[in-house]
Amino acid sequence: MPDNPSRLEDLHHRQTLAEQGGGAARIAQQHKKGKLTARERLDLLLDPGSFVELDRFVTHRATDFGMAEDRPLGDGVVTGWGRIDGRLVYVFSQDFTVFGGSLSETHAAKICKVMDLAVRNGAPMIGLNDSGGARIQEGVASLGGYADIFLRNTMASGVVPQISAILGPCAGGAVYSPAITDFVHMVRGVGYMFVTGPNVVKTVTHEDVTFDDLGGADVHAEVSGVAHFVHATEPECLTAIRTLLGFLPSNNMDEAPLVPTSDPVDRREERLLELIPDLASKPYDMLEVLRLVLDDGIVHEVMPAFAGNILTAFGRLGGRSVGIVANQPAVLAGVLDINASVKAARFIRFCDAFNIPVVTFVDVPGFLPGVGQEHGGIIRHGAKLLYAYCEATVPKLTVITRKAYGGAYDVMSSKHIRGDVNLAWPTAEIAVMGPKGAVEILYKHEIAKAADPAAEAAAKTDAYTQAFANPYQAAARGYIDDVIDPRDTRPRLIDALQTLETKRDRNPAKKHGCIPL
Ligand code: HXC
Repeated sequence: MPDNPSRLEDLHHRQTLAEQGGGAARIAQQHKKGKLTARERLDLLLDPGSFVELDRFVTHRATDFGMAEDRPLGDGVVTGWGRIDGRLVYVFSQDFTVFGGSLSETHAAKICKVMDLAVRNGAPMIGLNDSGGARIQEGVASLGGYADIFLRNTMASGVVPQISAILGPCAGGAVYSPAITDFVHMVRGVGYMFVTGPNVVKTVTHEDVTFDDLGGADVHAEVSGVAHFVHATEPECLTAIRTLLGFLPSNNMDEAPLVPTSDPVDRREERLLELIPDLASKPYDMLEVLRLVLDDGIVHEVMPAFAGNILTAFGRLGGRSVGIVANQPAVLAGVLDINASVKAARFIRFCDAFNIPVVTFVDVPGFLPGVGQEHGGIIRHGAKLLYAYCEATVPKLTVITRKAYGGAYDVMSSKHIRGDVNLAWPTAEIAVMGPKGAVEILYKHEIAKAADPAAEAAAKTDAYTQAFANPYQAAARGYIDDVIDPRDTRPRLIDALQTLETKRDRNPAKKHGCIPL
């Protein structure tokens, strides 16, 4: 076979060309901006040597605007599969050195191919985004390519976990693919997302705004709620994606990996006794409660910078992955507002779709009053949280640590909406409202007429507190399964989780529900 060596040489030459993307000068430019290349990112994301590339010889088909003479191999996106902690994942990584990572018809087709494989083979899909958006030279073919991706994002939703990293510009309609995915990671000063950039904003609304203030990582993590995680560097971001995947199953028919721990399942935790202050209005840090209960104190917070009055997090109990939803009394007294409701509702629906039990820690004074909240639609948004809890059929465990007042008691994974195991600490106060508010309504006239109104109000408040500010009325009705010693929280939850491993529950057959979006 005399011509074999030259065929091989030709192959290696083409492989090298594909690996060089837009060439040495553009790679240098990328590095100068403090950014990694598409392939360097995949090297950090995936287990060493596990990446298998697909479609490296794909080229675009455009002919106008001088494109016929410029057909880089791979067409601006590196796609394929690899492993994370030995588990299969599908990936795409946009290459900004080729036409600014812009999306052509063929670039989109490459992404669609790996998305189809991810769904068919039941493995997570991870997209590393760094793109100037629709390839201008391809016009509507590029827009069609985006729509092909959006459709696949939607079809894959709830079937395999979808994770996006924003590692460059992500503008225009291009933002909607990451927006449909389950988790968005952004790198500060590197990743940007906006539907229209600062220049268009200036023209249309006359507002002066910087890239960072309009669509930077912090804005999306703290204000818009688009981003779930913010990172200081790209390596930190890629490592965080690996960590997150460790809590997730590969698909909706699978279980999350069991992670052995040396943390005893029967560990009683003395410090839980000291955490809750005597005074009902005094804040404490619910994160501390979670650290004391979960395996090895590991709490992987999701959206930590958004709506701090509710905590959403992954953790493990007895090695099993759980989703935690917890009111945070240290922020706004743990009240439920619009942002907290939306944040927690989305998280619960993700857990429910992927068989991750939901453990809820309750200390909630109610929904936030105010014109802003009412006009902003707290009714509609709060209903999302209620709906998400009601429809969830995964194991649901609840621990009421202190306040569970009013509608918020019902919403926060109560027995009435299919809480499987509902526990309360002796410090729990389960009532229509807190003592002060109740006494003001019930005894307004008596207090006004009393010789010493302050003393009368104090006496009535004491009586109300004795009667209602405890867990025993709820426990007497079986709404709370047990009132437990706080020190036993971890063993009780782990034991309850084990009983629920064989849980079967189904919602009525329907095309889909109509969640109040
Ligand atoms: C073709 C593009 C491109 C694009 C960038 N490039 N965006 N080529 N189509 N959309 C090319 C540039 O010509 C340049 O080529 C190279 O990529 C790098 O771009 P620079 O501008 O030099 O880089 P930088 O200064 O870092 O600026 C990056 C940028 C800017 C902010 C992304 O390029 C930009 O504004 N691009 C256009 C963004 C945009 O409006 N896209 C359409 C959005 S609407 P050379 O050869 O000079 O290196 C959209 C709709 C999606 O995407 C629809 C979904 C429904």
